[in-house]
Amino acid sequence: MPPRFAASLLIATLTLLCQTGRYQEPYRPQFHFSPARNWTNDPNGLVYFEGEYHLFFQFNPFGDRWGHMSWGHAVSRDLVRWRELPVALPEENGIMIFTGSTVVDQHNSSGFCAGAKPCLVAIYTAYTPEAASRPSLQTQNLAYSNDRGRTWTKYAQNPVLDLHMSDFRDPKVLWSDRAQRWVMAVSLPNDHKVRFYGSSDLKHWQTLSDFGPAGATSGQWECPELFELPVDSKPGQTRWVLKVGLNPGALQGGSGEQYFTGQFDGTRFANDNPSTLTLWTDYGKDCYCALTFNNLRDTQSPVMIGWMNNWQYAADVPTKPWRGQMTVPRKLALRTTPEGLRLVQNPIDSLEQLRRPLQPGSDSFELRATVPLGNAKEVGWKLLAAGGTFTLVGFDREKQQLFVDRTHSGDTSFNKDFPARTTAPLQLDGSELRLRVLVDRSSIEVFADDGRIAITNLVFPPQSARGIEFYSKGGQPGAVKSELWTMGSIW
Ligand code: FRU
Repeated sequence: MPPRFAASLLIATLTLLCQTGRYQEPYRPQFHFSPARNWTNDPNGLVYFEGEYHLFFQFNPFGDRWGHMSWGHAVSRDLVRWRELPVALPEENGIMIFTGSTVVDQHNSSGFCAGAKPCLVAIYTAYTPEAASRPSLQTQNLAYSNDRGRTWTKYAQNPVLDLHMSDFRDPKVLWSDRAQRWVMAVSLPNDHKVRFYGSSDLKHWQTLSDFGPAGATSGQWECPELFELPVDSKPGQTRWVLKVGLNPGALQGGSGEQYFTGQFDGTRFANDNPSTLTLWTDYGKDCYCALTFNNLRDTQSPVMIGWMNNWQYAADVPTKPWRGQMTVPRKLALRTTPEGLRLVQNPIDSLEQLRRPLQPGSDSFELRATVPLGNAKEVGWKLLAAGGTFTLVGFDREKQQLFVDRTHSGDTSFNKDFPARTTAPLQLDGSELRLRVLVDRSSIEVFADDGRIAITNLVFPPQSARGIEFYSKGGQPGAVKSELWTMGSIW
């Protein structure tokens, strides 16, 4: 065999061995991002730049529990297949790198960009743990990259914002066209406030305004996110959304997220609704600290990714050698409903390229269904089922509730807060239930009413639990229309 051919055969065999060995552990998501090893929580710094989507994430390079927080890094060309890269921003001198965002500095406003070309600037919270002589400290800091996010330099004059506070975190920065400046939304967690700052160079920040308290305030406010969304797909019609994480005390217990719709004039966010109204982004237990991508092309819908977990039990979920995973990327919009404007989220279209004809015993699949309720009182599916193990995804007509019940979903014993029946109010017009469900070994994401309701939950079924079964109670539904695909692996 010619040596060149032998070498490429060897490489091909090794590649195959690596690929079949990786990402095949029990519960390992096949079409959701999870790091190869170790702990992750929030997505960070989501940005599109020169043909690549960057997903940074809270990451512990040394273990599968929270600690040594750094920014892990993965890139994708299509938001579907991800390639994990080395840690982008490591903890240094005991100072951790908490959640934040990344912007494309198009015109070198920061002075960090070499050769007058656009560069990436990350804005993150630096966390100095408490010591005998002082309390803990959270400040806002910068780092920049001139090689498409591969290597980063921390700004020598960090921090750029320091209120001498122990809780002051998670800066989301975006460019405001209206105000012609950078705007930062950052959380004052214990005051239940989002503070807005403005800057022309990312280094010097002036206070613009405060929003809050409003909505749900029982826990800390974290991970604020401000974005503009199209309304009812009408050209030129937009509204702003301010999304805020709450931990603990969210709708289903533990961590969860609320949003406000309104106007943002580059200085101040004006809530459309009374401050007593709480709107939830997701009705499950496992979607937290979601962020949208900065710098998407004008033609693209805003896209959001969340951490698919809950602080109540994130440290206990039974996965190895990694812990933590992300939701699928979701495209966002606002829709006018009789109650007012509501957030709409759906999986991005390009995920459809992973659809394959259904294989028997699939544990990564998509279900799309329409169920005329007829005179049934309850309709639904038993998913990832075998014997007494199943997760229910269904609709309760009397209560007008969509639900996901994971109390019999498999391993629920690792934490008392894990077993749960999560519900969302759903008034069905036309008495027809329309659902889209993504199942990926250890997660179930449900989108109903064309995306107005999202319910995201983790599950840990035994490997044998792969049944998919429709059921109804208390009467007869009409003819169910359903489509099922196996979802191919992205790894
Ligand atoms: C939210 C959070 C953020 C913080 C990060 C630390 O999940 O608590 O507020 O920046 O995690 O890992």
